[in-house]
Amino acid sequence: MDSILITGGAGFIGSNLALELERRHPDIRVTIIDDFRSGEFSNLVAFRGDLVAVDLSSMDLRERFRPGEFQQIFHLASITDTTVADPRRMIFNNLEGFRRVAEFARASRTPLVFASSAAVYGVCASGRMAEDQPARPANVYGFSKALMENLARRHAAASPDFRVVGLRYFNVYGPRETHKGAAASMVYQLAAQIRAGKRPRIFKHGEQKRDFVYVRDVVRATLTAASAQRSGIYNIGSGRATSFNEIIALLNKTLATEYEPEYFENPYTFYQPHTEADLVRSSSELGYTVHYPIDRGIAEYVKELMEADTIQDGLSC
Ligand SMILES: NC(=O)c1ccc[n+]([C@@H]2O[C@H](COP(=O)([O-])OP(=O)(O)OC[C@H]3O[C@@H](n4cnc5c(N)ncnc54)[C@H](O)[C@@H]3O)[C@@H](O)[C@H]2O)c1
Repeated sequence: MDSILITGGAGFIGSNLALELERRHPDIRVTIIDDFRSGEFSNLVAFRGDLVAVDLSSMDLRERFRPGEFQQIFHLASITDTTVADPRRMIFNNLEGFRRVAEFARASRTPLVFASSAAVYGVCASGRMAEDQPARPANVYGFSKALMENLARRHAAASPDFRVVGLRYFNVYGPRETHKGAAASMVYQLAAQIRAGKRPRIFKHGEQKRDFVYVRDVVRATLTAASAQRSGIYNIGSGRATSFNEIIALLNKTLATEYEPEYFENPYTFYQPHTEADLVRSSSELGYTVHYPIDRGIAEYVKELMEADTIQDGLSC
């Protein structure tokens, strides 16, 4: 029976990944490490595996697990609130946690997939973002991800038989992100405002564009990356930029509403005006394909949000 380690498995993407692994492989043994600094237990109510609630950035994995105990390791644990500006806190958590996981994985040559971010591209990039462009992170979150990629490249260069794959996720949206609050996707925020009968609030004038990628595509890409033949860094997005105004129009269409956006000033200097993944490398080398363009993703997500509310309404002890 395969044994898999997921760090950050109580979070948005990690919980979707853990549950999808268990759905695909009923006999699999999944172990999650998550200290719940931003994770949410209710994401895992259907989870059948084990959970170690420890801070990864100061954990000795060799004390807890045998070398080679896992066949694959997925590292998603991270401070994910991109507005955290304290460099020591962000870098210590994100880089030291990854350093420990990478050393543990490399010692037994266990394939390692880790979450990087489109934030490494920064605000200056325009047009499509391709992996060979230099990293220009504009906030300390993106900087911590760039440092993780540097570390991964050093491990891969030192041990060519160790496969370590970094995935630059773009703007992920979908079920199990509610716990992220203000850090949840704009799709979630805008859907929540409209569903609460409020006008959706966005920065002036709503033409900032994001590559929104549905979490099911992200989970599929992440699982595929564990079988990559080589180490590397790959974009995982939808390959298309959608403006916030377009998202509101799609939500109105899906929810049969007609809310006009309410625009307000953008307080952030590092806000990315345009993100759009170039998928040439991830499709040719990982075989990644997009199954959920934005209209399909939003339609499915809204349906799931409504079903979740119905289940919640019917819960009683
Ligand atoms: N959601 C997105 O749009 C997006 C975009 C780009 C990259 N990413 C990356 O994907 C990964 C998952 O993000 P998410 O959206 O699921 O966020 P999330 O906040 O829901 O999940 C992160 C999880 O990591 C855990 N964690 C953080 N530091 C930890 C530590 N030191 N020890 C143990 N657990 C720790 C948190 O408790 C949380 O459960 C992150 O690495 C994030 O940077 C996400």
